[in-house]
Amino acid sequence: MLEQLETLAKTAETELSQLNTSEALSAWNSKYIGRKGQIPQMLRQVSQLPKEERPTFGQRANQLKKSLEAAYEQTSSVVKSAEMEQSMAEGAIDISLPGRPLSRGRLHPSTQTLRRIYQIWADMGFQIYHSRDVETDEMNFQFLNFPPHHPAREMQDTFYTTNPDLLLRTHTSPGQIHAMREFCPEPIRVILPGMCYRNEQITARSEIQFHQVEGLAVGHGIRFSDLKGTLINFTNRLYGQGRPVRFRASHFPFTEPSAEMDVECFLCDGKGCKVCKYAGWLEILGCGMVHPNVLRNGGYDPAEFSGFAFGMGPERITMLRHGIEDIRYFWGNDLRFLKQF
Ligand code: PHE
Repeated sequence: MLEQLETLAKTAETELSQLNTSEALSAWNSKYIGRKGQIPQMLRQVSQLPKEERPTFGQRANQLKKSLEAAYEQTSSVVKSAEMEQSMAEGAIDISLPGRPLSRGRLHPSTQTLRRIYQIWADMGFQIYHSRDVETDEMNFQFLNFPPHHPAREMQDTFYTTNPDLLLRTHTSPGQIHAMREFCPEPIRVILPGMCYRNEQITARSEIQFHQVEGLAVGHGIRFSDLKGTLINFTNRLYGQGRPVRFRASHFPFTEPSAEMDVECFLCDGKGCKVCKYAGWLEILGCGMVHPNVLRNGGYDPAEFSGFAFGMGPERITMLRHGIEDIRYFWGNDLRFLKQF
């Protein structure tokens, strides 16, 4: 049995000297010297030997086991450091190479314009008032004085839900009714920003979703000249002091009288260019005096109160400012576009 042990130890040693990976080493360890390995197994058989042979065998066996363990430790440290060196060589980093730039996130161009608009109106004493994107037909149309067969109510223009009374707002004007009903009978100075939706063909000029910023002032003795003065003040702040503006008569069901406001084209200074289509003017918003029916629907008595409202499109403002020719860029998620702002 002692002989058997010696042979086993020899084999184990020879095998060990040929190993060069840590997986092979750990397999070797469990085969020979681990708890269930062949050497400890043999040690356990010591009881089968005649009494007088046991001490010699036990001594030698322990000796062999110790020396195999030592050999194992040594080989494994050599193998491990070789492996370490190899992995460092493979994953070598050339510290002289230029770094990879981190791309910095930034605000969407529409958000930037919205924030600029909020700031200006806040400076002029207007609060932000948020209202919902999903509206009732009543809020979006009826309370705003849309006659029953107005073309805007067609399926082709409006996104309806499965409930025919619920739709995606086509403009921010229903917020006027919400604000009036909340504040009545106090005076109001609010802007109502938000996303609007229209069931249209998507083209370079029209999207199915876009922002609007609505404005509403209600109080005693508010006149058309207040509307003009306030909006001129706003455009001076947005487009620069002294930029000429003009008001053109227009029509909206919920304002009377109604107007559209143009600023002189700031790209060509009114001389005429591609962006202003050689008109020298850019249309920037719709506005008017709040219609008496709308005041009434909001809870205000038109004999006592009056007000003005306006609505503008931040995407349009951004397009004009930067000469962007296609509105589809805004929600196209093309980083090459977004990174320019
Ligand atoms: N709601 C109008 C539109 O979507 C804009 C507008 C708002 C006009 C308020 C007048 C007053 O075009």
